[in-house]
Amino acid sequence: MRYINNYKDKMQTYNKEHKLKYYIDTMGCQMNENDSLKYAGILESMGFEKGTEEESNLYLFNTCCVRENAENTLFGRLGMLKKRKINNEEVYIAIVGCMTQQEHILNKIKESYRFVDIVLGTSCMSIFPEKLYNAIVYNKKKLEFIDVSNSMEEEVPIKYEDKYKASVSIIYGCNNFCTYCIVPYVRGRERSRKPEDILADINRLAKDGYKEIMLLGQNVNSYGNDFKDELNGYNFPKLLQDIEKIEGIEIIRFMSPHPKDFKDDLIEVIKSSKKIARQIHLPLQSGNTNILKKMNRKYTKEQFLDVAMKLKKIPDVSISTDIIVGFPNETEEEFLDTLDVVSKVKFDQIYMFIYSPREGTVAAKMEDHVTYEEKVNRLERLKKLYEDILPSINKEMIGKTYKVLVEGKSKNNDLLYTGRSSQNKVVIFEANDSLIGKVVDIKIDSEHLWYLKGTIV
Ligand code: SAH
Ligand code: SF4
Ligand code: F3S
Repeated sequence: MRYINNYKDKMQTYNKEHKLKYYIDTMGCQMNENDSLKYAGILESMGFEKGTEEESNLYLFNTCCVRENAENTLFGRLGMLKKRKINNEEVYIAIVGCMTQQEHILNKIKESYRFVDIVLGTSCMSIFPEKLYNAIVYNKKKLEFIDVSNSMEEEVPIKYEDKYKASVSIIYGCNNFCTYCIVPYVRGRERSRKPEDILADINRLAKDGYKEIMLLGQNVNSYGNDFKDELNGYNFPKLLQDIEKIEGIEIIRFMSPHPKDFKDDLIEVIKSSKKIARQIHLPLQSGNTNILKKMNRKYTKEQFLDVAMKLKKIPDVSISTDIIVGFPNETEEEFLDTLDVVSKVKFDQIYMFIYSPREGTVAAKMEDHVTYEEKVNRLERLKKLYEDILPSINKEMIGKTYKVLVEGKSKNNDLLYTGRSSQNKVVIFEANDSLIGKVVDIKIDSEHLWYLKGTIV
């Protein structure tokens, strides 16, 4: 990344004397986590060291605004840091990520949190080194609110914390405008990374010993749509096939695909792959066709079930999903459709959310007569149904053998190790340190709702 080089040496020199430490607080989704790894990479290349929350000098808040709550957390933490600044400690504060793209947040910072040093939008990583250097060395404060649709930076140094699993962003932004969702407003339009850049990243990771790759995007299967005719229809299934060929990579995961774009060619590629994980994240949001229409999801209950059932025909596949309960004016009957899809598909994992109105979205202006208590009640009923079904799914795995990437020692017992199967199930088993980072065959012996126990065979 060209901009870092200009400030790398200067900041390193400063840091030789000042030895500044950084602390990153990531509030968002996996895309945000991936961005945080890049910020960590940039900071370390500039001579910063990773520190604890208490001792650090640079606080970087990588924010999320997909649901409420995060706002209060951010402003609460800023309040605490203000005290350290007042005490004249060498403390710098940077706020980046999705929340900074919302005007009311920016105004609030400008009005009441003027001690913040840097505020950058979601496509500003390239100017971060310069703004940081100026804030630290010249004490220049800078708020930058850059158009989210343009920039896409390559060759950013990235600092993975895990040694065997790595995430790689393949497409930024979103064009779908689901009516409840703020993401398209704060992340801009879809921009696909060039296949050669992605493949070069993954080749490098494979050489460094990484075994598992998670491909990231708000809608991974619209990958390549923005290439138009440039690359002869290069798309997500083709990218998966190219990654499959990379020696050393054993497990390929991706999230999130959009059910409306989950076509047969993608299902075929998954079926014939030896590396694509037998776990597919298929976000349902609602099981009712009328609510799905109001959400602008562009599929019906039946179309979702059709894709899910095709996927379930792939041996040993598990399906995870996201569900929103209490969308504006969701009726009891409409909610029952969501429960019906849950009973039919038998999801292995469900991320459940109560609808949260986001300023600026279409749904935020819709009338809503459903009480909050009713929404909580629906969430609990959904959770209960999911937990009632889960043991039966897990039991089907008992006696069978699965490939598991050994991640490390189990937290509670020194003799036991933990890993995840291709289905993304946590598996606990006896092993030894030499197997960490390797993929082993494990026969499942018992199920314990949130994890399975097994034996290496
Ligand atoms: N691009 C992904 C979702 C990203 S946001 C997809 O389409 O699946 C992650 C999840 O947050 C969504 O799947 C949705 O379930 C939830 N979510 C998004 N906006 C929300 C809102 N306003 N209220 C509650 N949950 C929301
Ligand atoms: Fe949000 Fe829909 Fe885009 Fe996902 S696909 S990020 S839910 S607008
Ligand atoms: Fe949140 Fe932004 Fe991700 S709003 S969910 S961090 S894309």
